[in-house]
Amino acid sequence: MNVAVIGTGYVGLTTGTALAYLGHRVTCVDKDTAKLELLCRGRSTVHEQGLEELMALSGRNLSFARQTQEAVKDADVILVAVGTPQKSNGEANTQNVEAAAREVAEGLEKGRLYCLAVKSTVPVGTERQVSQVVRRVLDARGVEDKTTVMVVSNPEFLREGRALHCTFYPDRIVVGAEQPEDADMLRRLYQRILEQSFDPPPFLPRPGGYNLPTLVSTDPTSAEMIKYASNAFLSLKISFINEIAGLCEKVGADVTEVARGVGLDPRIGPGFLAAGLGWGGSCFPKDTAALLAIAEEHAYTMPIAAASREVNFRQRYRVVEKLQETLKGVRGRLIGVLGLAFKPATDDVRESPALDVVRILVERGARVRVHDPVAMDNGRRALEGLEVEFFRDPYTLASGAEALVLATEWPQYRHLDLARLAGMMRTPVLLDGRNLIDPEEARRAGWTYMGTGRWV
Ligand code: UDX
Repeated sequence: MNVAVIGTGYVGLTTGTALAYLGHRVTCVDKDTAKLELLCRGRSTVHEQGLEELMALSGRNLSFARQTQEAVKDADVILVAVGTPQKSNGEANTQNVEAAAREVAEGLEKGRLYCLAVKSTVPVGTERQVSQVVRRVLDARGVEDKTTVMVVSNPEFLREGRALHCTFYPDRIVVGAEQPEDADMLRRLYQRILEQSFDPPPFLPRPGGYNLPTLVSTDPTSAEMIKYASNAFLSLKISFINEIAGLCEKVGADVTEVARGVGLDPRIGPGFLAAGLGWGGSCFPKDTAALLAIAEEHAYTMPIAAASREVNFRQRYRVVEKLQETLKGVRGRLIGVLGLAFKPATDDVRESPALDVVRILVERGARVRVHDPVAMDNGRRALEGLEVEFFRDPYTLASGAEALVLATEWPQYRHLDLARLAGMMRTPVLLDGRNLIDPEEARRAGWTYMGTGRWV
């Protein structure tokens, strides 16, 4: 099929490249000329494992364009994957989606059939809004009755750092359409994924025991809600275990053991039960805020979703408070923060708990040094104006420091030489905000170790 993807962020670029690899002819559109130039040279604009290799493997099936009209003319399917930034009231701003829909409609040809799928995370009811925008433009062009556009909702569930994995081996594909038959174009688009009838890229083998994904064909409003409900539930799971972690610290239990025991119940499952600094990134914070904004618009309260956010943001303060207690105040202390990205395997620092820890520490008068294996540039931009020192090497960062906070569970931090690191410190205090390090090992190496929700 001919596919146009509007927007080359994480979602657009990953999906577009994967579809090109699967044999579709894909044109990805972006307005940013600097980005386009990089993309045309085969370089990815986002740090995502395997993406550049896959772009190379996709060959001529993948191309890039600046003009939406040009890209959509011959397309069968158009995927809208533009950003929906957060408004001040928490709502997702759909301006970009509407603008994209207008431009798409300007480029559609008379007498053709198109499927326009909204992949961006949008407030419930956006599919209706997009349909109207398209209809208005086609009407103004005098081609409304001669062009068929099926507008559907097709939320994505990509995880940064595993985006290609999530695209090739999804748990489910959700399509929300007014008429069930409107989902057929997307069924065709994703057929090779649904049937797993493709040769996996050499660096991304099909996981053993992977079951064919379900196509959830539903109405557009429910599809939009599935996305919000999924993210709200996952973030709630993390907040729940973080709340339990706080109590574990009080009563002397180990939350990693509790999570293991709890997660073995298949009704609960082991995923998303890692206690620590909590969730950040481009989705959970924004989507939970948007969900609450939708509820408010309907004069409905959602105390569980609200509490999940509250517990999440409390984690960032708790870490600093623990440090204050142990060091008897952080004012004037030299503290190192390991990790800036909101999670490992990405350079994304959006809403990263690590950044807030840095901000709170600086606010409370600490001298702060930071390190991240890949997110230094983004961290520098996000922390601009704040007195923070950036270090390329964790050992140099530790030199003379009075405490370290492990804020992102990068695998390379697990392999640090703990004894050497402790030897560099003025006082070897380690606050493991992600429960990455083995407490016993840390203590043997000379550290005063504090995890999250672990008394050992
Ligand atoms: C998430 C959803 O998983 C994905 O389906 C959706 O499409 C976009 O949002 P992502 O933001 O990339 O994906 O990251 P994810 O791996 O889900 O982690 C989100 C945050 O939760 C990270 O800050 C991570 O550190 C934190 N987390 C995750 C925990 O604190 N504990 C856990 O057990 C799992």
